[in-house]
Amino acid sequence: MKVIIGSEKEIAEKAAQQYVELLKRKPNAVLGGATGSTPIGLYKELARLNKEGVISFKDVKTFNLDEYVGLDGSHDQSYRYFMNENLFKHIDIDIKNTRVPDGINTAVAADYDKEIEAAGGVDLQVLGIGVDGHIGFDEPGTPLDSITHVVELEQNTREVNSRFFNSIDEVPTHAVTMGIKTIMHARSIILLAIGKSKAEIIKKTLQGPITTDVPASILQLHPDVTFYLDEEAASLL
Ligand code: F6R
Repeated sequence: MKVIIGSEKEIAEKAAQQYVELLKRKPNAVLGGATGSTPIGLYKELARLNKEGVISFKDVKTFNLDEYVGLDGSHDQSYRYFMNENLFKHIDIDIKNTRVPDGINTAVAADYDKEIEAAGGVDLQVLGIGVDGHIGFDEPGTPLDSITHVVELEQNTREVNSRFFNSIDEVPTHAVTMGIKTIMHARSIILLAIGKSKAEIIKKTLQGPITTDVPASILQLHPDVTFYLDEEAASLL
């Protein structure tokens, strides 16, 4: 487990270097994507590096962590829409090589793991973290052996995410998410955390017991995980 601390800009730049190293070594890498506020700086940096010709996504495949149930890709709060707007539009990726779990036909949720496997497995998965320790939408109590599945969102998670909607009533009650096992299968993982609101959960994640009560604490068991933290998120370590 590696921990890198810096300003928001520095951690985005350093995390992006992991993509540079990977894509130089393996131009057809499989990348795991996340949404939310946290990876936006990283995505901007990746778009910049792509524009400058440092990296190419031409042969890359992506699999996102999660999607709201009931929102299709045209909804401006769907995670498909988020990825198109914040990353895919700005890089030379073939959009056909990008996957986000299906929020409409949830019956196919478990097939997502098979698709990931068929693509060769995720080489580098980026994660954010919820204040309750969730990764993807794997809330506290999610079993370690879970694969991609439908979850009911915690009220707290819906409240936190309501900042992107007109009101909390519009926030979907369910999501499809990669499971803990799906996430842990990635060859390398990076977790980004920014801001004071994440300080307490970052301390529990890195220095607390490994427990399903704090889903991100399971990452302590992963052989290649790097935490990129800004000074505020790292302030209780
Ligand atoms: C999003 C996701 C979530 C977020 C987490 C933190 O795809 O999987 O686990 O990473 O809720 O969200 P932000 O970055 O908005 O604080």
